[in-house]
Amino acid sequence: MCGIVGYIGSKNSVPVIIQGLKRLEYRGYDSAGVSVINSEGELLVYKKAGKVSKMEESLDLDKYSGTIGIGHTRWATHGEPNDINAHPHLDFDGNIVIVHNGIIENYKAIKKRLSIEGFEFQTETDTEILADLINFNYRRTNDFVTAVRLSLVEVEGTYGLACLCKSEPDKLVVARKGSPLLIGVGDSETIVSSDAAAVISYTKHVIYLEDGEMAIMTKNGYQLKTIEDKEILRDTEVLDLLLDEIEKGGYDHFMLKEICEQPDTIQNTYRGRINFDTGVAKLGGLDTVLDKIVNAERFIITACGTAWHAGLVGKYMIEQYCRVPVEVEYASEFRYRNPIISPRDVVIAISQSGETLDTLAALREAKKFGATTIGVVNVIGSTIAREVDAGTYIHAGPEIGVASTKAFTSQIMSLALITMMLAKYKNTIPDSTLIQLSQELLAIPAKILKMVEMKEKYKLVAESFKNAKNFLYLGRGFNFPVALEGALKLKEISYIHAEGYPAAEMKHGPIALIDENMPVVFIAPHDGTYDKIISNIEEVKARKGRIIALAYEDDENIKNYADYILPVPKTSPLFASILNIIPLQFLSYYIAVMRECNVDQPRNLAKSVTVE
Ligand code: F6R
Repeated sequence: MCGIVGYIGSKNSVPVIIQGLKRLEYRGYDSAGVSVINSEGELLVYKKAGKVSKMEESLDLDKYSGTIGIGHTRWATHGEPNDINAHPHLDFDGNIVIVHNGIIENYKAIKKRLSIEGFEFQTETDTEILADLINFNYRRTNDFVTAVRLSLVEVEGTYGLACLCKSEPDKLVVARKGSPLLIGVGDSETIVSSDAAAVISYTKHVIYLEDGEMAIMTKNGYQLKTIEDKEILRDTEVLDLLLDEIEKGGYDHFMLKEICEQPDTIQNTYRGRINFDTGVAKLGGLDTVLDKIVNAERFIITACGTAWHAGLVGKYMIEQYCRVPVEVEYASEFRYRNPIISPRDVVIAISQSGETLDTLAALREAKKFGATTIGVVNVIGSTIAREVDAGTYIHAGPEIGVASTKAFTSQIMSLALITMMLAKYKNTIPDSTLIQLSQELLAIPAKILKMVEMKEKYKLVAESFKNAKNFLYLGRGFNFPVALEGALKLKEISYIHAEGYPAAEMKHGPIALIDENMPVVFIAPHDGTYDKIISNIEEVKARKGRIIALAYEDDENIKNYADYILPVPKTSPLFASILNIIPLQFLSYYIAVMRECNVDQPRNLAKSVTVE
């Protein structure tokens, strides 16, 4: 949520910062800005409401030039997204400039104090107050690093921040608490960012900041310390990321690229983790807690949004195949409702970004009660990945489209692997079934590819419904979470109101909504619940609803009931949700494109939600 880039080196920092901000724009795109210290020692700030490209269009690159600078792309928390509230923020004296992710919770109290000291304020943001507080401490200490440090000791809340001081133009100071930052160390240049995507063009050697740490960056490197002033020694790590993974590669949108990548990303999730002759799954990252997992009394899966939907699939899988109770909790509820957690529980945190604040807080809550924690995470080195006792990376590669697609299917695949691993240890599935499942798993990428190749069929259905005002998605069993996820995808990128329900629940309320204008997507593969789903379809048909059925390619019977069909290949129920979501991802993508919505950057959303 919000993107930060800072540069100090021998190049002009502004083009580096703008390129980086464009790569981070999926984190927030309400407004953008840069600040630079030029060769005359002037501290300049330029910022605009809207996207980075809008700010760049009107930016005079001859004027805004200097070898040290910071930039920001914003997702508004305090203050509406306009030019003034955009970052960077200057302090009252024009000596300190700051970009900040997170929320300073006690900013009102600090503001009151500073106003007594004669400070005046330009914006409604908490960030400006932090700039003023740093300057207040600078006035007292005459030392930039000390001023930042003393200010951070005083603030409550979260921050990832980068700041410059006009009086000390040879250093860039950054700090982190609850909002990620990494520092890239290149040849005669050092770059900081909230995300590896902005660093990778310059260097692969990075340092991840931990909570409560700050760094003093110079063109020749960095010095790390805690905000309590303790020196820290830490070596750089090598980034495992390729530049073409974060580019569109000829697709119109990142979302389309990411949907179409799924034959590969799914394979990357299971590669090297399953023996196809024996059906035995092995997840090396979980070895250290294997005993705890096998003997767990209960699993608690915690996550938000799409990752929560994947968690619900995980519940159905683990309970059905391993016979252990599983609870699935919205992280934001779990962390605050005083949950009952015991040391015999295993808590699984699922997160694409590995930075979602509520999921992280839920995980920390679980740790307090002595539960074993495991992560199912995409972003390598992210906070959740580092804080769990053990974990498995989903290896979906960078997901840039704000609407999660390939991460969802890889999260489910990871949970399927955990299920198969656990079932073997608990002996809840015969070996012959495990072998069958592993063979089925091997066939999944080709089946996804088949759907990618028939995307035009899904597009035709989209054409018929692009003007719909509402949608219902209904499914049973493993396909209930698919209904939820299908509805979420549609509403977040096309702004059509959509709801997902267990198909049979429809009769208990939503059926009142059905009329000739209501499209209803039934996820109706020919599995154990097929006959029941057909009855539900009849109920909708009787009320003139428009039926879109997601059904097996060879299901002739469904043609008697459905107005439109989204064909899918067959698979085992364990993997069905991985296949069945793909046509729904395409459906929402094409509807959003036809409605001329900004697919990759839907309004009000940001990729990584690092505030409550
Ligand atoms: C929806 C979407 C969000 C995320 C949620 C959790 O398309 O992307 O609902 O799934 O914000 O994010 P992570 O997985 O990063 O914790």
